[in-house]
Amino acid sequence: MCPNMPRDLTDLLYPRSVAVVGASATPGKIGHALFSNVAGFTGPVYAVNPSHKQILGRPCVPTVADLPADVDLAIIAVPPADALRALDACGRKGIRNAVVITAGFKERRGEGIERERELVRIASAHRMNVLGPNSFGLISPRARLNATFAPRGAFAGTIAFISQSGALGSAVLNWAWQREVGFSFFVSLGNKAVLAENDLLAALARDPETRVIAAYLEGVEDGPEFVRLASEVTRDKPVLVLKAGTTEVGARAAASHTGALAGSDRAYDAAFRRGGVLRVRTVEELLEGAVALSQQPLPRGRRVGIVSNAGGPAILAADAAADEGLELPPLSPGTVASLVERFPAANIANPVDILADASADQFQDAVEWVLADPKVDMGLVLTAPHPVLTFAELARILAAAHRRHAKPVVASFLAGEIGDEAEKILSAAGVSAYFEPARAVRALATLARYREVQDRPPPDRSTVDADRAQARELLGSRGPRLGVESLDLLTAYGIPVARGGVARGPDEAEALAQDLGEEVVLKVVSAEVVHKSDAGGVRIGVPGSGVRDVYREMVRAVPAATGVYVQELLPPGEEVIVGIVRDPTFGPLVMFGLGGVLVEVLEDVAFALAPLSRGEVEELVRSIRGFPLLEGARGRPSVHLPALVEVVERISHLAADFPQIQELDVNPLLCYPDRVVAVDFRATLG
Ligand code: COA
Repeated sequence: MCPNMPRDLTDLLYPRSVAVVGASATPGKIGHALFSNVAGFTGPVYAVNPSHKQILGRPCVPTVADLPADVDLAIIAVPPADALRALDACGRKGIRNAVVITAGFKERRGEGIERERELVRIASAHRMNVLGPNSFGLISPRARLNATFAPRGAFAGTIAFISQSGALGSAVLNWAWQREVGFSFFVSLGNKAVLAENDLLAALARDPETRVIAAYLEGVEDGPEFVRLASEVTRDKPVLVLKAGTTEVGARAAASHTGALAGSDRAYDAAFRRGGVLRVRTVEELLEGAVALSQQPLPRGRRVGIVSNAGGPAILAADAAADEGLELPPLSPGTVASLVERFPAANIANPVDILADASADQFQDAVEWVLADPKVDMGLVLTAPHPVLTFAELARILAAAHRRHAKPVVASFLAGEIGDEAEKILSAAGVSAYFEPARAVRALATLARYREVQDRPPPDRSTVDADRAQARELLGSRGPRLGVESLDLLTAYGIPVARGGVARGPDEAEALAQDLGEEVVLKVVSAEVVHKSDAGGVRIGVPGSGVRDVYREMVRAVPAATGVYVQELLPPGEEVIVGIVRDPTFGPLVMFGLGGVLVEVLEDVAFALAPLSRGEVEELVRSIRGFPLLEGARGRPSVHLPALVEVVERISHLAADFPQIQELDVNPLLCYPDRVVAVDFRATLG
């Protein structure tokens, strides 16, 4: 199949007829639970089992070959060896779509790995779309198809849920059923032997019923394609991803779970940012974010208006808003005047605390006025159990406000139970209510994040002028480990470097030093020494008269030295580090951070996928905590930010242009008010 040509999954997602291989009449078996669910399908359903003529009132045939010709989808739930034979038989029969529930493939390692290879061979020989193996199944509520063995199905809705974990998928179905949250599709990816997240992403992007795509993933199969696809999809539909395996231990657990080797977490962060994917950290955030996105309009900005008749919860909400980077703007004078008149005893600010004795009418006015305020992009209403106002009354107020205003409205009802009536009113109106104020705030933050994804300008993918031929020649003639003597690679990319050159003997060193000022820096050149300073391989501030002696000392201290780099001595400046690492899933990543000890102790660094546009570099540079130091904190002058941004941009293109660069550090890059200069350099080629 052509790599960028999306697969047609219509018959998988909307089959007209379905067969279950391994359907069982014996309660307690997976094949029975599965077939009981599939039997609810509106179209023709067949069981395949050699021992029966009918199961659950549906026709049963002994083998796949006995099925009628028009079956679109086969669900396979027989032991592993039989599963491969059944899949092949389906292919021969012309069935182009299958879900393999059977486990015992790659995730079991050993012979399972070869079994999975065989499955891939069969699928590609017959050009089949195969979900799984080790899949929990598929639900297409509009087609009334539940091809899982879950005890509950799913309501029809607008959220597509993709899960790499069957157990998590099952839990999500249960959660959604209780809250009457509906899905456009529920897809358990299993081992992703054939169909993976990108195939589903592409299909769901085109599906008119799907408004939000939510996924639990342990890894991404084709990183660059995922980023490309996500960048397109997220312009129209939000994509939320809970990515597991973010810690060392988590990553190992992911590997043993479905055999996915989790890529590095920084790379996932960078890739999701590039693709406009909203990354979430908990299952709850994934589901609640998806629900909010499916029900609420998008806010224009990050400004929240809070109305509460409970002081403490309002403060908690304000704290949570600050944590999420949301703003609580002062309300417009007109809004304040109306509120002051209506609530003379209340403290009118944002949060608006209308005090505990506020009546339903008063609450309604406050919510109405705050939402109508042009300074407010979204509303949050908080309450606790109350003698004057019932939850149902407040729910009605919220439902009406949600209808009237094209602004998101969420609520936090701090109560163990809010009652069926209030629940019904809120759910019919599509207003989410939470116990915890912070969760309500997080839902709003998710909406604001997605608005920003939609608003971002298309990235400028123009390239930089560089002497690529020269760079290619340099990379071809040196390596695999490059040091300071290869600063000329940066020169080829138009990056300013400290003046200097390699000396092969003391006389040459002295001659070089003469042109570089009164004092110079000497750095040993050796492919074997990684930390030059630790090995006595760096001397700073050597006067011209001392260069010969220092040269001799250095080559004595480092016997593997092939020369000494003589470099101009630069005045102190702000030190930053710019690096490249190559991620196995997503390719080259650029790292930026404060240099020197700060990079090691504080790890104040940020990553982005290479190559980067100017705008993306600016975002990267500004994203580190220490950025104020570069901008001139505490009376220090600001460094030349445009020059710094340009250097990072150029390094990002170097990374993208030459896949043989595995790792590269420009450390330090010295930044001054009028320029930036690369002083030291290290790279590994592969
Ligand atoms: N064609 C048709 N029917 C077949 C068959 C074939 N090639 N091979 C077996 N069957 C029938 C069996 O006779 C049996 O029917 P019966 O109940 O009437 O006797 C039925 O299919 C099931 O086969 P059985 O041998 O009883 O298998 P099982 O139920 O013990 O296990 C799986 C089958 C698929 C459930 C099991 O191998 C498995 O993989 N379990 C894990 C599933 C899982 O966890 N998936 C991931 C979810 S996250």
